[in-house]
Amino acid sequence: MISQRAQNLQPSATLKVTGRAKELKRQGKSIISLSAGEPDFKTPKHICNAAIKAIEDGFHGYTMNPGTPELREAICAKLKRDNDLDFDPSQILCSNGAKQSVGFSILSLIDPGDEVIIPAPYWVSYPEMVRLAEGESVTVRTSFENNFKLTPEQLEDAITPKTKALILCSPSNPTGAQYSAEELKALAEVLRKHPQVYVISDEIYEYIVFEGEHVGILNVAPDLKDRVVLINGFSKGFAMTGWRLGYLAAPNEIVSAVSKIQSQETSAPSSISQKAGEAAYKGSLADVIAMREQFKKRRDYLVDTLNSIEGVSCFTPGGAFYVFPDVSHYIGSKKPDGSTIQSSTDLCLYLLDEFGLALVPGDAFGEPNGVRLSYAASMDDLEEAMKRFKEGLGSLG
Ligand SMILES: Cc1ncc(COP(=O)(O)O)c(C=O)c1O
Repeated sequence: MISQRAQNLQPSATLKVTGRAKELKRQGKSIISLSAGEPDFKTPKHICNAAIKAIEDGFHGYTMNPGTPELREAICAKLKRDNDLDFDPSQILCSNGAKQSVGFSILSLIDPGDEVIIPAPYWVSYPEMVRLAEGESVTVRTSFENNFKLTPEQLEDAITPKTKALILCSPSNPTGAQYSAEELKALAEVLRKHPQVYVISDEIYEYIVFEGEHVGILNVAPDLKDRVVLINGFSKGFAMTGWRLGYLAAPNEIVSAVSKIQSQETSAPSSISQKAGEAAYKGSLADVIAMREQFKKRRDYLVDTLNSIEGVSCFTPGGAFYVFPDVSHYIGSKKPDGSTIQSSTDLCLYLLDEFGLALVPGDAFGEPNGVRLSYAASMDDLEEAMKRFKEGLGSLG
């Protein structure tokens, strides 16, 4: 009999659409997919070369559980260079991706019944990770009007004596929303009143920001350092999703706890990937900047086009590679066969089946009135996608 824990876990809600898209593609249908959560670029050459060298040099063994001292030093140097943050290598724990760092941080902070505040729309894995730790997710729905950012009032209202952590993701998956220094300061003001609340700050999209510099909670509230877990990784900024390399930076007590879990579950990430990560942080960021410029052009095109479609509105996100327009106007509308679009999932399945366009429904992220479009896709695909989107919505009555 399968454990209750495994039975309670929800499979990724994005799979319903992506699975169907794959099936239709296999049947030979023309499908444009804007559902990917990974850059459509290749890992920069100098990073690949460092990995090739690691293989040729015989760097094939297990490394220390928290990662090689060299990589952890490179991460500290990067945190100083890019973020003006001071960390010691003993406060860094490298992992098989930021996902693992988030999951194991939750496991090491959350006891059964503890509450974790998750602003919605949220990355699909957060609530399930909290469920695995037998904690309680308290989702707080942010608004289209506020560009999906948690307000200090909402945070204050959501905190109870049982609150153990807040998960912040900026720039955000799925909305691309990017918190400003002022907005983070206002949240920090609330957090100061509640010393039992930790912050898991997922900054995996840090390098994909279009307006000014990335700001994290530690930049505006260094006094909270003893309860912030900063999560980052290489997947998004360096187009390294398959290398599986991420890390957390946190107080020693938290690093030790997460390290203990990691040592029993997975051990350190791949030795080869660690050499690649070191090269990424020590080398030039020219490729990162070039990818960011491409993403910005695509974002501008999508936001302009979406806002020109009747009944659709989309704010201009500050980062990541997603836009999240409001499509509530079409929920409740009628398909040509007379049946009703009941939800964003229904809308996405209709667009996929009838127009060959794969998007991810907002339902998957806790926001039923939106859909997520990823622009980790070529400009040609984006243009074709917008054509199909317009046509699909135009067919609804
Ligand atoms: C918000 C967010 N955090 C973490 C991750 C996981 O990143 P990694 O590939 O480093 O595990 C993702 C990937 O989709 C993400 O969108």
